Amino acid sequence: MSIEDYIADLDQRFFQNQLSAPFKTELKQLPLDRKDVLEFVERTFRFMHMGKVSAKDISLITAQALGTLMARILPGGWEGKVPPVTLPGRHIAMDELLKNSEFGQKENVDMLDIGCGFPPYTTLDTAKLFPNWNITGVDPSLPLYLLYDDQGNYATLDENKQTVYFQPALPSLENWNELLSDYEGTKRRFEALLEELLQNPTTCRYALPRVEINPILQHETAKLRFKNGGIGQVDIEPQDVIRCFNVLIYFDNPFFERALSWFSDHLKEGGMLLIGANWTGSSESYYSIYRKLKGKLIKSEFAFSLDCIAPFAIIPWYANHDDDAQTKELMDYVSRIRSDDAFMQEFYALHDADRKRLNICARDENGYYGGPDPNMGPHAMWGGIVSLLQGLNDAGLNTKAAEVLKASGLNVTVNAVGHVSVAF
Ligand SMILES: C[S@@+](CC[C@H](N)C(=O)[O-])C[C@H]1O[C@@H](n2cnc3c(N)ncnc32)[C@H](O)[C@@H]1O
Repeated sequence: MSIEDYIADLDQRFFQNQLSAPFKTELKQLPLDRKDVLEFVERTFRFMHMGKVSAKDISLITAQALGTLMARILPGGWEGKVPPVTLPGRHIAMDELLKNSEFGQKENVDMLDIGCGFPPYTTLDTAKLFPNWNITGVDPSLPLYLLYDDQGNYATLDENKQTVYFQPALPSLENWNELLSDYEGTKRRFEALLEELLQNPTTCRYALPRVEINPILQHETAKLRFKNGGIGQVDIEPQDVIRCFNVLIYFDNPFFERALSWFSDHLKEGGMLLIGANWTGSSESYYSIYRKLKGKLIKSEFAFSLDCIAPFAIIPWYANHDDDAQTKELMDYVSRIRSDDAFMQEFYALHDADRKRLNICARDENGYYGGPDPNMGPHAMWGGIVSLLQGLNDAGLNTKAAEVLKASGLNVTVNAVGHVSVAF
C-alpha cells in the first residue's frame, strides 16, 4: 500500500474524508516500514474518533508530531526501551494538588515517584515544594554516565559506555529531528565524546561539553533518595503517596492491573496513588486517584484538564496499547463534552480567539487548527499553551464542562487545581 492510500484509508475510516491537505502532507513522512508507528497512528485516530474529535479540531502540530517525531520517540525507536522523556515543571499542577490534599501540610510524608525519568526533574520539583517529606525516586534507567555535548544536548550511557538515550537541550520537534535524523551517528558521537571527556575531564561543574559519573548521587539529600528499579522490581517500604506519571501509557492493561496490585501492597492505610499523564506545565493532564481504605485500593476520582478536549500535543491519545483503559475513560468524558453543542460554541468562541491572539495553532482560512509559528521558540509556545488552559479555566469553562458531564449522569466537580474531576 502506498503512503497516500494508507492516509486516505485512515481519513475515510476515522474522519469522513475531512482531514485537511496540509495535515495529510505532514503524515506522508510516516515510515511505512515501522509497524509500531503505523499502529500508533491508527490507535491515535481511533481514540480521537472515540472522543468525537473532528478533523478541524486537530492542530497541524499533531500531524507534524505523528509524521516525524513518533518514529523517534516510541519504544520501537529505542530498541524497545521506554524513553525517560521528562521536563521540569511538568507536574506543577500535580504538586499543587498534593499541597491541597490531606498530606499537604504534614511533615515526613513518605512519597514514591516511580518511573521518575532522568534527569529526575519532576521529583526534584516535588522535593523542593515539600522539603520535609521523605521522597524516593525510582527508575530502571538511572544511568552511570550523563553526558552533555557543546550544545547542551544530553545522553545517558551505561556501564559498557553504550548510549542508552539522548535528548535535545530543548526537546522541540525541530531539535529532536536534528538529533535523530542520524540515530546511529548521534549515538556514536556521544560514545566518542564520553571517551574523550573521560581522558580529559573538565574541571568546571557546568562546562559544556561535560560528563557526570553516577549523576543521580548529586541530587540525593537526607530527605531525597533514588533507586534503580521499576514497578514490582524494587524493595520499598509502604508509602503515604505514590505517583506514577507518564509510565503506564507504555504498557497494556494486564500490566496496569498488576501495577495496581503492587501499588496497593506498597501503600500505607489511607495512602494516595496518582496515575496519569501530562505535558509541559501540566497541560493536557489526566489522572486517576486511588486511596487505600480498609486494606483495599479504591479508585476515588478521574480528573483532567480541559485542554484535553482540543490538545496541542498528543498526550490525551498517547497510548501504546489498544486496551489502554485510562485513554478510553478520558475519551468517554471528552466525547460527552464535545457532544454538547452549546458548550462547544462557547468553548470555540473563547479558545479560538485566544489561539489567534497568542498566535498558537490558530484556525486557518479553511477553519482547521493550524501549526506552530516557526519563529516562536518552544518555551514561548509552551508558556502560551499553559496560558490558553488558564484562560479556559478563568472563564469558568471547566465548571461548565463539569455541568455537561453532570447532566450526563456523572458525579463531577472542579478540583483544587481547576481540573474537571469525576468522583466515584
Ligand atoms: C516518559 S518517562 C516519565 C518520567 C516522569 N515520570 C515524567 O512524568 O516526566 C517514563 C519512565 O518510565 C520508566 N520505566 C520504564 N519501565 C518502567 C517500569 N516497569 N517501572 C517503572 N518505571 C519504568 C522509564 O525508564 C522512563 O524513565
